[in-house]
Amino acid sequence: MSDDFSSCLRDIPDFPSPGIIFKDISPLLANPQKFTEVIDAMAKIIEDQSIDFLLGIDSRGFIFASALAQKLKIGMVMARKPGKLPGEVVSQSYDLEYGSATLEIQKDAFEAGDRILVIDDVLATGGTARAASDLVEKMGAHTAGYLFFVELEFLNGRQVLNADSVNSLVKF
Ligand code: PRP
Ligand code: MG
Repeated sequence: MSDDFSSCLRDIPDFPSPGIIFKDISPLLANPQKFTEVIDAMAKIIEDQSIDFLLGIDSRGFIFASALAQKLKIGMVMARKPGKLPGEVVSQSYDLEYGSATLEIQKDAFEAGDRILVIDDVLATGGTARAASDLVEKMGAHTAGYLFFVELEFLNGRQVLNADSVNSLVKF
């Protein structure tokens, strides 16, 4: 199954900077049957978890989170790059595989105690997903788990994540 899905990814060497092999999800998105299979498989992983909101990470995480939100009938919240969300926001800066960045969530997105599932396309070093869950915890909600399409296991990203449930469909 995993091999099957990995054929929908394309390696782009030296993007966005030298030495980085970028996992391009464009072939998956261009193939509606495969994309449906991926969303179905991701939905299966989380269908038994009790989740109040899916938190999609700007920008490729939105693609997976919104499809899953619609399939599972769970609300979705956006963790966005800075300056994009209106109103009061909570911010968190973090180190990226290439550079550093900040994520923001609207202050009224969650109620205290809500159970949040963090969703992104790729888990690399884990900095991005960890920043998203740090925002969740800052707001008094709880990171119930993480779900990724792709996990780059050699970067050990799951070691920096702070939830018991960390799942991915395709591992490299
Ligand atoms: C990529 C990817 C993940 C993150 C993983 O996003 O989509 O969000 O990096 O890296 P990490 O585990 O080392 O933090 P990117 O910042 O390139 O932005 P994009 O999704 O907007 O393309
Ligand atoms: Mg991203």
